[in-house]
Amino acid sequence: MSEPEVTAAGDPASEPTPVSSGGRDGTPALMTVDHLRVLFPIKSGLIIDRTVAHVHAVDDVSFSLVQGETLGVVGESGCGKTTLIRTLVRLVDATSGTIEFHGADITKAKRRQLEPIRREMQMVFQDPQASLNPRKRIQQILTTALKLRGVASGEIESESRSLMDRVGLRPEHLSRFPHEFSGGQRQRIGIARALAVNPKLILLDEPVSALDVSIQAQVINLLDELQDEMGLSYVFVAHDLSVVRHVSDRIAVMYLGKVMELSPAEELYTKPIHPYTSALLAAIPIPDPKQNRARVRAVVSGEVPSPIDPPPGCRFAGRCPRASELCRAEEPQLTEYANGHLAACHHPQNVTAAELAAATRSPLSPLVATSTAPSLPA
Ligand SMILES: Nc1ncnc2c1ncn2[C@@H]1O[C@H](COP(=O)(O)OP(=O)(O)O)[C@@H](O)[C@H]1O
Ligand code: SF4
Ligand SMILES: [Mg+2]
Repeated sequence: MSEPEVTAAGDPASEPTPVSSGGRDGTPALMTVDHLRVLFPIKSGLIIDRTVAHVHAVDDVSFSLVQGETLGVVGESGCGKTTLIRTLVRLVDATSGTIEFHGADITKAKRRQLEPIRREMQMVFQDPQASLNPRKRIQQILTTALKLRGVASGEIESESRSLMDRVGLRPEHLSRFPHEFSGGQRQRIGIARALAVNPKLILLDEPVSALDVSIQAQVINLLDELQDEMGLSYVFVAHDLSVVRHVSDRIAVMYLGKVMELSPAEELYTKPIHPYTSALLAAIPIPDPKQNRARVRAVVSGEVPSPIDPPPGCRFAGRCPRASELCRAEEPQLTEYANGHLAACHHPQNVTAAELAAATRSPLSPLVATSTAPSLPA
């Protein structure tokens, strides 16, 4: 199969409405992601490499983020969360679409242009064990990061001690190696390393998934405090909705490379519009076994389909209890309901007829999505 036809982002012929590059109240955006796609080619052929298909890891994703805001990104494994944030820090190249940071288009920025930008955007990884060099003492790990920020040699030790203190670790443990800490403590070191360069934005890839539940809460509280103190912005990736609830201002729910719903955080839990969000909510474990058994589960059956050249229509159609012929034929537009709540579903739930009548197509909607307006299920 040949290269798929990728519509250029912002092509006025395909979509007249540009993505707004600011917050809802007019605050300038720190980051604006506009119709971003990341397709990985699948090659075959013994002599000549031919591209036979593409993995649609991130498929026309748009959002903006303001300073001090946390965007939670949630979805099952393989839906493109890691690829999305690796593309935002330019560790993966975008196939099309644009990424703006502080108003500058960084989508194709070269290595040298990226150096100062990378200092402002830091990543924290899921597995703190794997992301810290086991042969280096914590002092050495932090020194490398502090030097990147241009901290003078004479100040490195006091800055390191203050970083340790800030993330709730004892400064006298700077001489230890990563393996001498617990999982939660290692994640605190990962956070200290990210903070050392004085970033504006931290991209957190399932930062607490590998930790015990009690430790998860401590690390999340730490992130919350640091955000308040330093005005940081976060993109916080998680595979279930329980983790991001209290830390996020808004939450994007992803499925097979697409944003299915983007909502102010609390509203997503009380008024999910997309059936996939309801399924994710139903999957959140409830600690009390009695309550857990009594809960009416909207759990969907079936596996996540392959992201290789997915068929047209709604990507959730194969697992959705509300799927209609229209769903299988046409990709639903991302529609904006009241309160900046967006969802891509032909037959939305938890909306009234009046809310539906007032809803509009969002400029964040995928370029190829249908213009068929959503309707309430019969
Ligand atoms: N370098 C790569 N080459 C080919 N496919 C990839 C590559 N990285 C990720 N993928 C595929 O892209 C999809 C999204 O992966 P990923 O971003 O890791 O998802 P998540 O973080 O949500 O689990 C998956 O189908 C994965 O197999
Ligand atoms: S568009 Fe159709 S298949 Fe997709 S989530 Fe909505 S009802 Fe289900
Ligand atoms: Mg991942």
